[in-house]
Amino acid sequence: MEIAAYFFIFILSILIFVLLSRNRRVGRIVQGKLPPGSMGWPYIGETLQLYSRDPSVFFASKQKRYGEIFKTHILGCPCVMLASPEAARFVLVTQAHLFKPTYPKSKENFIGPSALFFHQGEYHMRLRKLVQGSLTLNTLRDMVGDLNAIFSSSLDSLSGGHVVNTFHELKKISFDVGILAVFGGNLDAHYAKELKKNYTILDKGYNSFPTIIPGTLYKKAKMARRRLSTILEEIIRLRKETRADKNDLLTSFLAYKGENGEVLSDNQIADNIIGVLFAAQDTTASVMTWTIKFLHDHPKLLEAVKVVHFF
Ligand code: HEM
Repeated sequence: MEIAAYFFIFILSILIFVLLSRNRRVGRIVQGKLPPGSMGWPYIGETLQLYSRDPSVFFASKQKRYGEIFKTHILGCPCVMLASPEAARFVLVTQAHLFKPTYPKSKENFIGPSALFFHQGEYHMRLRKLVQGSLTLNTLRDMVGDLNAIFSSSLDSLSGGHVVNTFHELKKISFDVGILAVFGGNLDAHYAKELKKNYTILDKGYNSFPTIIPGTLYKKAKMARRRLSTILEEIIRLRKETRADKNDLLTSFLAYKGENGEVLSDNQIADNIIGVLFAAQDTTASVMTWTIKFLHDHPKLLEAVKVVHFF
């Protein structure tokens, strides 16, 4: 979970770099001092240190040495890493207008270049509205039965007294819920299984070191991403053929009309489906994991929640 949080902050930190370099380009001299840290070797920076061991060890040792805000250089990007809630609030809330989201190319290709994260303007705005609009209270109400089924089957698989990793289990659940939100309740079991299998491979390679060496997590993820495109194209083709009008995100993507009436290509839809699954999975699983931890640590709170929800 910590790693997921750090990588999220990593993306945010790139924003800071973009901001600083943009200021330099327009001729304003940036007076601010960079935080402590090391920029490593020319070009490769500290990329190898990050990827040659468990990333959480890299971040923990940096945090211990330099504090909650430190500079580094990863995947060709000078970065400022932020690990405090105050710093995250500064980037995401109070000074959000100063930042522009950018991702390293390797990550952009894994998600899909047409996903809304990588765009600004009209295309971004329309897709954002569409994704937000697909999660209305009415839609969620219609999903309650299927959501119950997902949680029940997950709880069944946890019985038996073995040790489980809460975050990993909740990631499985949030993925299933994502699939439900995107494709509605009746996605063919074969497609659901293939999507899950290949998305898991993609997820494992997402934060790996980009390389052309076969057999690496990165190469496996690249191949899985290609297979995901093929599966999604097939699902989209079938949906178009059956003209099923369902209350799900795929239906909204198919109904998309741009400024001049243009529709989304199958590739654009596929990239945005992967984008939503990516945006929804770790974030939601993290929140649920922390919720469980806090409820466990505060029994009185747990009792109060039970009163609200079960009586
Ligand atoms: C508790 C869970 C979640 C957290 C903490 C979270 C957090 C965030 C944050 C911090 C951003 C960046 C905002 C920015 O750049 O201003 C973001 C963007 C985004 N999230 Fe979430 N998110 C969560 C769940 C979800 C879910 C369930 C979806 C699925 C629909 C989703 C879809 C998106 C999308 C599409 C964007 C990009 C928005 C844009 O580029 O305009 N998120 N999320």
